Amino acid sequence: MNTRIYHTIDNQAIAEVGALLRAGGLAAIPTETVYGLAANALDADAVGKIFAAKGRPQDNPLIVHISTMEEMYPLVTAVPEQARRLADAFWPGPLTMILPRSERVPDVVSAGLPTVAIRMPSHPVARAIIRAAGVPLAAPSANSSGLPSPTNAKHVIDDMDGKIDAIVDGGDCDVGVESTVITLASDPPRLLRPGGVTPEQLEQVLGNIEIDPAVTGRLAEGAAAASPGMKYKHYAPRAEVTIVQGPLPSFRCYTDHVRQAGDAALCFAGEEDYLRIPAYDYGREDAPETQAHKLFARLRQMDALQVRRVFVRCPSQSGVGLAVYNRLLRAASFRTVHMPEIYGLTGPTGAGKTTVAALLAQKGFHVVDCDRLARRVTEKGSPTLQTLAAAFGADILLPDGTLERKALARKAFASPENEQKLNAITHPAITALARQEILACREQTSRVLVDAALLFASELYDYCFKTIVVTADPDVRQKRIMERDHLTQDEAAARMRAQPDAADYERRGDIVIRNNGGEIDLADVL
Ligand code: TXA
Ligand code: MG
Repeated sequence: MNTRIYHTIDNQAIAEVGALLRAGGLAAIPTETVYGLAANALDADAVGKIFAAKGRPQDNPLIVHISTMEEMYPLVTAVPEQARRLADAFWPGPLTMILPRSERVPDVVSAGLPTVAIRMPSHPVARAIIRAAGVPLAAPSANSSGLPSPTNAKHVIDDMDGKIDAIVDGGDCDVGVESTVITLASDPPRLLRPGGVTPEQLEQVLGNIEIDPAVTGRLAEGAAAASPGMKYKHYAPRAEVTIVQGPLPSFRCYTDHVRQAGDAALCFAGEEDYLRIPAYDYGREDAPETQAHKLFARLRQMDALQVRRVFVRCPSQSGVGLAVYNRLLRAASFRTVHMPEIYGLTGPTGAGKTTVAALLAQKGFHVVDCDRLARRVTEKGSPTLQTLAAAFGADILLPDGTLERKALARKAFASPENEQKLNAITHPAITALARQEILACREQTSRVLVDAALLFASELYDYCFKTIVVTADPDVRQKRIMERDHLTQDEAAARMRAQPDAADYERRGDIVIRNNGGEIDLADVL
């Protein structure tokens, strides 16, 4: 079939598309939400062609689009007071109401349900085409079933060229996700699909509403869906999508750990450069309308770029964010990873970090002890130990192949270059182990504490949502070091001098805890 594409929308174009629809043809038209694939809603044969063009399951009913209230009355058997109030508040606009269906609506439109979905779009081209057709238009989103809905004409052409009579190019859709669907057949009214009209806005008009569990949950196998569209895998690109919950630094930790060629991130605007995999933004974190506007185009772009796995920053669920989250859940087939908040713990030697770590462990933090990891990476036979021996000489090893720590320390701390060489070998290995430990505990805890003396010089710092610095007065620290490590006063002082200044630590910490003995105040952390 030759698909006529209208890039210029003038009166003649509107009249031609209207006539072709009235005569039983199929045309993709712009709306303020997404592009719709329209047919005469009163013509069962025409509507049947929609299912074929999309590859849509027959049991998934369509929305009927109208341009005036008068067009609604013949389609329904009753107009409840609540429907009138909603129409006054939100029509024309991105809201669909489920109402009792009249005989005029063919079975195929409603997939045999006793109800019909009705929406009055606000897009001027959609309205003009409905008027020109002179009949209500049944229109699902104009994508191949299962793919992300089209938000510009190029998306429609990719999916529908050659399968339908006409495509009307009205530019980018404003809202970007499909309309809000609410049923007034239940009491209180129930939100079946979130969209551009938010739950908060609906409650202002209706009072209390219910949110169908399928909005944020997965339907149980075989359960009946209030809205059949909810049960299908939807909005999904070919790439495997995973939603990662948790703050940005935790997202970075996760993607650093799992990354492979072919991965990409969908992140919030401004975060791209912070990530180590190719990253594309879908709007600012605090701008759910922008996220809705960009989401589907970004998902389609992932396929165009042949991305294999997409990791997505989890949007907030308030306002239009609920619609964004709902679409992402389906694009991800509900694949979601929860990452904990990662706190860094550091401080100068002798300040008593370990005491603070133990207290926070009691409060539910999982503590990742980097000293312990440092010993693990240099265990006998480990690749890191082999690299160290190659770099510093085999005499850092004892005859049985274990590390002689003192020998390594002598060499490594002999010059700043050597110290750098040591860190360049051990830090990446410690970081990898720390990440592994964080990923392993992520289902058990919502807060992780990474205890690392050299945190600020380490990549682990990039994973920290907040840093806690523990300090104490110099004389207190000196005394502690002497007792702990059996050192003379001079030796302890030398240790302290070899480290960055305590003030340096304090300046960089988000939270500073003083530990001169006595009770430790954790109020700023908890
Ligand atoms: O923004 C939109 O609503 C777009 C544009 C084109 O208007 N249309 C759209 O249609 O998203 P579609 O077919 O992709 O989604 C219609 C949704 C489906 O989830 C379907 O199951 C539900 O509405 N639906 C339709 N009739 C229903 C009914 N009688 N009862 C419950 N759910 C219904
Ligand atoms: Mg759809």
